[in-house]
Amino acid sequence: EAAGKAGYPHFMLKEIYEQPESLRQTIHGRVDSINSTIELEDFEDGAFTDVDHVQFVSMGTSNHAAMYAAAHLTELGIPADAYMAGEYAEAPRPTTENSLVIAVTQSGETADTLNAIRRANNAGARTLAVTNTVGSSVTRECDESLFIRAGPEIGVAASKTFTSQVIALTLLSECIAEDVNETTNPGRRAMLGELADLPGDIQQVLDETPAEEIADALFGCKSYFFLGRGSARAAALEGALKLKEISYEHAEGFAASELKHGPLALVTEETPVFGVITGEDDLKTVSNLKEVQARGAPVIVVAPASLERDLEFADYFLPIPETHSSIAGVLANIQLQLVSYHIADQLGRPIDKPRNLAKSVTVE
Ligand code: G6P
Repeated sequence: EAAGKAGYPHFMLKEIYEQPESLRQTIHGRVDSINSTIELEDFEDGAFTDVDHVQFVSMGTSNHAAMYAAAHLTELGIPADAYMAGEYAEAPRPTTENSLVIAVTQSGETADTLNAIRRANNAGARTLAVTNTVGSSVTRECDESLFIRAGPEIGVAASKTFTSQVIALTLLSECIAEDVNETTNPGRRAMLGELADLPGDIQQVLDETPAEEIADALFGCKSYFFLGRGSARAAALEGALKLKEISYEHAEGFAASELKHGPLALVTEETPVFGVITGEDDLKTVSNLKEVQARGAPVIVVAPASLERDLEFADYFLPIPETHSSIAGVLANIQLQLVSYHIADQLGRPIDKPRNLAKSVTVE
């Protein structure tokens, strides 16, 4: 087992540090940033022309990756919703083969997700698996598959597979929208240009992160909140999930707009609040963060490095390199993975195998 960890104290830390390489594998041969084209091996041009809406079904971290994709598709004009697979029985039924239902599952074995796909198949929808695991159950249940190619992930809490899911889904969303709209997203060239630099940006985060010092300063606290708006909300939810999974401390993520509708009552000097800033619309999140700070909460901001001066009020700053706003969340989550890892490590938790949790949940 020690050999498998390649010198890292935990598989999770190794997997966090593998992300520049695992992401390169995800993108490899699929993106031509010079010509602004995307080729996903099993999907010919026009493969998605008939799609009239998209439903994602997934659980846990995969559900947070699906939220990014649903937001991206919606922005490109394609109706899309991300459902927690376990709640899919309550969702509007997909009705025709033009309804595309996408299962997002690292393992390909999550019971809730498999059941949601069976339901979609029974309703006559077209089903597609986005998974890390060749030959998994989801690839047999779905009509088609796209592999995220992140390599094996041993740590129970997902890290590198999340990054690869978000990017594979971004590419898939671009292809779906291109076919349906019969035109390429005008923002694609800029996004693919930044995507080519993303592995290097991740390396920079890993090399320069202040996560360990921040974790050392915070780890005695009993409750942690994470907030963000728009796609930064998915990053906040994932940040909170990671921390609770491996540290056993209470952590909650929510939309920054929700703060005043309840969570603010819980804020004290004992509750650090993480704010994720990745888009232009995040000024309101800044005012939410000032509000919790006025109530004594330590504020930790994850944001593009260029904003550090504007965000000087924050008690701690986790910088991310400049990138396209639709993929910046990936960098924010890597900073938050590192903070969670170091808090859990300070607390002496069994990071790779948290109590009561399983890598894949095969019973509902
Ligand atoms: C479990 C794991 C999580 C994972 C979730 C969904 O809860 O502990 O890390 O995100 O299952 O797993 P899947 O394999 O479907 O992505």
